Amino acid sequence: MLQVEDLHKSFDDFKAVDGVHLSVEKGQLVAVIGPNGAGKTTLFNLICGQLQPESGKILFNDDEIGRLPPFEICRKGIARSFQIANIFQRLSVFRNVQVSVLSQQRLSNKLFHPAAQLAVNETNHILESVGLLDKNADVAGSLSHGDKRILEIAIALGNEPELLILDEPTAGMSPDETATTMALIQRLAEKQGLTILFCEHDMEVVFGVAQSIMVMQQGRTIVQGDPQAVRENTEVQQAYLGDE
Ligand SMILES: Nc1ncnc2c1ncn2[C@@H]1O[C@H](COP(=O)(O)OP(=O)(O)O)[C@@H](O)[C@H]1O
Ligand SMILES: [Mg+2]
Repeated sequence: MLQVEDLHKSFDDFKAVDGVHLSVEKGQLVAVIGPNGAGKTTLFNLICGQLQPESGKILFNDDEIGRLPPFEICRKGIARSFQIANIFQRLSVFRNVQVSVLSQQRLSNKLFHPAAQLAVNETNHILESVGLLDKNADVAGSLSHGDKRILEIAIALGNEPELLILDEPTAGMSPDETATTMALIQRLAEKQGLTILFCEHDMEVVFGVAQSIMVMQQGRTIVQGDPQAVRENTEVQQAYLGDE
């Protein structure tokens, strides 16, 4: 579904992404891991069109998307969350997700109609799938940090993506929230057949969950493979032991 080949992106002289290779197959749950500063967010910004690559290829369903603007990439079926939650703080949980469903259905011009009873079933269905239905009337800004991040996943689901991209979905979460969120991500992948690509700096979070892991260090792909192959890779062992 997604194929990234020899991708490069610099900021002035600094090579933030410096030879990245990544392959995501339909239905897979794929993790990108690497320490802070490895280039994970830059890679996701390149895939989603927030940044343009200098060289290399990004193929989504065999289309080159590497130089398209974000809205076109979104329209092709890629939705993402950001490392810092991006929600409408003063709207209700329900409304945050409804806005996204309506914009997918190109009905957002009707959003400020007094009786905005549009897409109610779709919105509730998404809230239920992420476990936020009982909080649908809460003001988004009043949610716990963990629930805000989950709301952001719900907003991304409103775009009906083929590929869901999550940037450190458990960043800043307590151990309990992290476990709940990883279980949710696994459920979305397994029960709803979504293809999910996420990144993480903590190795332990991904090993029980991801089917394929790509390890990045200093802008480069060290290896991509199943968890066992990655665990046994000597370059990965050196990179991580060297860190500690
Ligand atoms: N817009 C930018 N301008 C300059 N440097 C940047 C910019 N974005 C990221 N970087 C640098 O690129 C490197 C990789 O950053 P990032 O992709 O955010 O890493 P990660 O998400 O793996 O922590 C970091 O050293 C960061 O400081
Ligand atoms: Mg990051």
